[in-house]
Amino acid sequence: MGLPVKAFPFTVVSHVLAIVALILVLVWAVHFRGGLAWEAVNKNLIFNIHPVLMLLGLIIIGGEAIISYKSLPLRKEVKKVIHLVLHGVALALGIVGIWAAFKNHNESGIPNLYSLHSWIGIGVIALYGVQWVYGLVTFFYPGGSADLRRASLPWHVVVGISVYILAVGNSALGFLEKLTFLESGGVDKYGSEAFLVNFTAIITIVFGASVLLSVVSQHSVEQHDADAYTAI
Ligand code: HEM
Repeated sequence: MGLPVKAFPFTVVSHVLAIVALILVLVWAVHFRGGLAWEAVNKNLIFNIHPVLMLLGLIIIGGEAIISYKSLPLRKEVKKVIHLVLHGVALALGIVGIWAAFKNHNESGIPNLYSLHSWIGIGVIALYGVQWVYGLVTFFYPGGSADLRRASLPWHVVVGISVYILAVGNSALGFLEKLTFLESGGVDKYGSEAFLVNFTAIITIVFGASVLLSVVSQHSVEQHDADAYTAI
């Protein structure tokens, strides 16, 4: 199964949208929300780290990790290391990003884990962590038997894609939630900030879609590895 087209154009679109999404979230955090800080009297600056790192980590770097098998003209063994490292960076940034949301809540006297977004978020980061560790142990070090790797690969792909879709959807929920808080605090519903936040969420979703299209399309260069997977 898979689309009968080459992944190349989708991977190019993904790279471009990744840069656009990063610029948009930074403009929001810095220009509209006063910037980012780990220690600050204004606790909102601590919160601002959250959307920036979640987008940069789980969504953008995580998306680039997923499409690295399709986007890079390198040997499979090299791409495997790049895939593993990029996902490791995405996971680390995701953990620090969630930590920033907790830090903001704790220092502002706001309860933790009361929203659907936060519950799904914990699920996403936990599954991402399990998926990364299982991938490391099975496909990299110490590495499972050939049979185990062959049996695990379709699950690794399907679970990985599912968690990624959940992460993109949860980011949209996060943008919606934050903008709703801001609007009930007086931010203009039809103003430039509201437009920017909604537009950033749409770019995030379109980026996620282009990552998925890359995954289900064909390698641009023919693969000859024994345990390479074809587009699902
Ligand atoms: C995959 C990406 C994301 C994950 C896994 C995630 C996860 C989480 C978690 C676990 C919390 C709970 C923190 C606590 O209870 O102290 C949280 C809070 C929050 N997040 Fe996200 N987040 C993501 C992306 C975003 C984005 C892009 C925004 C956009 C602004 C956002 C907005 C919020 C808001 C407003 C809160 C505080 C209110 C609440 O707890 O629901 N999140 N997030």
